[in-house]
Amino acid sequence: KKVVLAYSGGLDTSIILKWLQETYGAEVVTFTADLGQGEELEPARKKALMLGIKPDNIFVEDLREEFVRDYVFPMFRANAVYEGVYLLGTSIARPLISKKQIEIAKKVGADAVCHGATGKGNDQVRFELGYYALEPGIKIIAPWREWSFKGREELLKFARDHQIPVAKDKEGEAPFSVDANLLHSSSEGKVLEDPAKKAPEIVYQRTISPMTAPDKVTTIKIGFEKGDAISLDGKKQSPATLLKALNDLGRDNGIGRIDLVENRFVGMKSRGVYETPGGTILLAAHRAIESITLDRGAAHLKDEIMPRYAELIYNGFWFAPEREMLQALIDKSQEHVEGEVTLELYKGNVIVTGRESPKSLYSPTLVTFEDDKGAYDQKDAQGFIKLNALRLRTLGLRNKS
Ligand code: ARG
Ligand code: SIN
Repeated sequence: KKVVLAYSGGLDTSIILKWLQETYGAEVVTFTADLGQGEELEPARKKALMLGIKPDNIFVEDLREEFVRDYVFPMFRANAVYEGVYLLGTSIARPLISKKQIEIAKKVGADAVCHGATGKGNDQVRFELGYYALEPGIKIIAPWREWSFKGREELLKFARDHQIPVAKDKEGEAPFSVDANLLHSSSEGKVLEDPAKKAPEIVYQRTISPMTAPDKVTTIKIGFEKGDAISLDGKKQSPATLLKALNDLGRDNGIGRIDLVENRFVGMKSRGVYETPGGTILLAAHRAIESITLDRGAAHLKDEIMPRYAELIYNGFWFAPEREMLQALIDKSQEHVEGEVTLELYKGNVIVTGRESPKSLYSPTLVTFEDDKGAYDQKDAQGFIKLNALRLRTLGLRNKS
């Protein structure tokens, strides 16, 4: 029996590693991905070695560019937002992790994969829908749904009994569950469980408070091509480098904090505090470039399907045909979405102040209140309104009688 574990190097997945060896007598293969969570990966390798994993069974991969190019950017073409506020930072990372885990399972001839998500959340669904889509016969081990530990104390005892290093109690006010990647960080549980109570400042990890942000405007320009950001202040940058740069700008200006209650796919409501500094800037900029390059019909259609698309990603259906169909529609809409957007960052705000494009549909001649030299005949509007009013007048007549 061989199992590929999604291994962060943290306490929980280290416990899972040992538990797999004990419970299943399994040969464990670890997979640690760099998705830009901002942690070194080498310590995870060292820890896996220390816990008895053979060097050949340790996989560490830098997925930052692939993550932003093939997952984050396609999603941002749709302006995807779940329930009005959540930019899907965790949701969008799961399909990539699933895909890589399955690739490694095939390479090493493993018959099972394992993840550290609990049985209460969305992540288990996302990981496992990905596994099943890409390897229908795979065996899945979800320790949180299987083991008999009742609470943190028993887990910590297991760790101590198995020489797994436990960092000194820094739990205190810290959230129970934190997830981070280049797009966002999320915190849930513990101090956050009462949705009436304000989150303590220590929960925030990648943004300063808007209140302490500089009392000075930062102006930036983001360039787009086919709906994807390609440059910052005129300088071309790779997807991951660009997102990282926007994260830094967002952090310094207190941008992208949200505190929400969301509906999980499994049915319960949960409260979270998320930070998406670069993504918040990118969304505003993308909408602004679309505002001059997209036709109204195209723009409104993609806005209509957006909640559906966002829900598919939230619920873990990245590899489903309906997500791919919607993606094809969205990608088609982005053909002419190019140009440059100017934005001001100021104390938590992202303010669009300019947009320009060689593909712009904005016509100053048509819209001007000054002499338009015959570009638009105002008399045409009379018939336009009359026919649109026909039904309303008919109804109005009936209402009067
Ligand atoms: N509730 C968010 C989501 O479902 C964030 C989940 C965070 N995951 C985690 N393992 N801490 O996308
Ligand atoms: C978890 O349950 O592991 C984290 C929260 C979620 O997946 O929704």
